Amino acid sequence: MVVLNKELMTIVREVDVIPFRNRLKEHAVKIGMGLVNQTKIITAASELARNMLKYAKGGKVTLEVISTGRENGIRLTFKDQGPGIANIPMAMKDGYSTAKSLGLGLPGTKRLVSEFNIESEVGKGTTVTVIKWKNG
Ligand SMILES: Nc1ncnc2c1ncn2[C@@H]1O[C@H](COP(=O)(O)OP(=O)(O)O)[C@@H](O)[C@H]1O
Ligand SMILES: [Mg+2]
Repeated sequence: MVVLNKELMTIVREVDVIPFRNRLKEHAVKIGMGLVNQTKIITAASELARNMLKYAKGGKVTLEVISTGRENGIRLTFKDQGPGIANIPMAMKDGYSTAKSLGLGLPGTKRLVSEFNIESEVGKGTTVTVIKWKNG
């Protein structure tokens, strides 16, 4: 897998989500991703950015255009230094939310992307990595 393009964005306020979404959209269009998959990755990214703001007072996102040679895609890595998640399987359960919000949540986010990985350590922070393949 090769990284064709990489940029780092800091998200510490709600308004930072807008330029992040715009850059994501630009890259998705550039690799020829269809509108349906564009919408899926942008929706997933918005939820993960909002989680970072809500639970960790913000964090950093790495936006990468990646290629396997036969397939191009976008990889997003959300990294924060918030409180971490004590019970990941529970946090990934449909309907579970400590904030009782009506958002998409982590399980909804996972369904919208091609690959989803979450790592978290209590007291250290959380890293969520998602990939959306152009045709995936
Ligand atoms: N970046 C994060 N840092 C710490 N806790 C998080 C983070 N993201 C999610 N969580 C925890 O996982 C739970 C589930 O997240 P999510 O499915 O997005 O639901 P919601 O945000 O509606 O509570 C949250 O309630 C929160 O406790
Ligand atoms: Mg959420």
